Amino acid sequence: MFVIRQAAIPEVGESDIVIDHGHIVEVVEHYDGDYESEYNAKGLFAFPGGIDMHVHFRIPGNPEKENWVSGSRVALAAGYTTVCDMPNTTPATISVRAVEEKKALIQRDAKVRAELYIGATSDNLDEIIAAQDMVCGVKVYYGTSTGNLTMNDPEALRELFEARLRVPIVIHAEDDACIEKHAQELATYSGVDKHSKVRDKDAAITAVRDIIALIKETGATNVHITHVTTAEEIALIQQAQNEGVHITCDVAPHHLTFTIDDYERLHGQLQVNPPVRTHEDVEALWQGIRAGVVSCIASDHAPHTLKEKKSDHAPSGIPSLHVELLLLLEHASSDFSYADIMHLTSTFPAQLLGFTDRGAIEKGKRADITLIDPAIHTSITKENMHSACGWSPWKGKTFSHSIAATFVDGQLFYERGHFTYDI
Ligand code: DOR
Ligand code: ZN
Repeated sequence: MFVIRQAAIPEVGESDIVIDHGHIVEVVEHYDGDYESEYNAKGLFAFPGGIDMHVHFRIPGNPEKENWVSGSRVALAAGYTTVCDMPNTTPATISVRAVEEKKALIQRDAKVRAELYIGATSDNLDEIIAAQDMVCGVKVYYGTSTGNLTMNDPEALRELFEARLRVPIVIHAEDDACIEKHAQELATYSGVDKHSKVRDKDAAITAVRDIIALIKETGATNVHITHVTTAEEIALIQQAQNEGVHITCDVAPHHLTFTIDDYERLHGQLQVNPPVRTHEDVEALWQGIRAGVVSCIASDHAPHTLKEKKSDHAPSGIPSLHVELLLLLEHASSDFSYADIMHLTSTFPAQLLGFTDRGAIEKGKRADITLIDPAIHTSITKENMHSACGWSPWKGKTFSHSIAATFVDGQLFYERGHFTYDI
């Protein structure tokens, strides 16, 4: 038995967490039974390990951007114990075989729980159906983005919705026709904010509107929109939810932080799909979280090398997993509680993805636990973000909280800047 002592669990209060064989066996005010070792967590919050439903760890294809050695470190230092990897790797994960091969490749290096998505193309529904029990979800690029995995085909999307899959369909919602139209109109425009203008909010709004219509037509109950960026999308999704339509969504840390005003400073480092928007949109996203329209935070951790990001043809994508939990903790307040943050970063993603063994600190769950110190701050550096890509748009930013310790299966893997395992 291993006991984490006197940890403050949101909604529960100060408790001892008793762990045996990687599982939580008891959560009590004071445990006075037998134990082999204990960890003093007085003054710390205990959260169920973070579950990030959207990361790009670049294996196979680009280990110099992120791999499972570096990515595991990013996750553990950020308080995350489960990450769900997207399929736009090279090659793309679009078949049962590719899922198996990716699993084999990452098994040796992953120190966090690795879950995989299969990508949808216009003609791989058979593979998706066959892979259902091997993946956490299906990813649809309904709009072109980094990688070669676009499925902007409404008929194929309808078939996917009608397939009644047991796993969620997670959609990158941007409308290519809108984007192409703006690209033509802005062919000679060279302002720093060109990327946000080409991928104007109408692309995201149109896509979300079409997807909601298709959910209504097909009765699908497993559709999730990832990285919502605009006030209008929040309003559309809220209205649909109020009408009883099954639709969920998440937002990403960069869309909760940066606006078009930051291009002057960050240039191509800020380029991401969907793009950053305005202050009003950022406010609407926070409001969407508070109102419960947004069910979780997902990082869309998408590292590229700094050299690429500083070039004239910067690829889209921002590394963001390292700030995901810290950013929310920074906003903890009277109307945005630690319990809310726990739900957004662990409980809701576990529910959505069907991880019944995770997402809460309670008897029977896996002992994936993050301890948070509200009294010690974190300043973001190249070193303490741990990513292979080696840069962060939050570099120099100080957050009010820090990650004190991260346990996977009851084993301490990270403690205040240090990893406790051999790599
Ligand atoms: O900006 C983005 N980067 N958006 C995506 O959809 C993909 C991601 C990547 O893989 O780099
Ligand atoms: Zn992504």
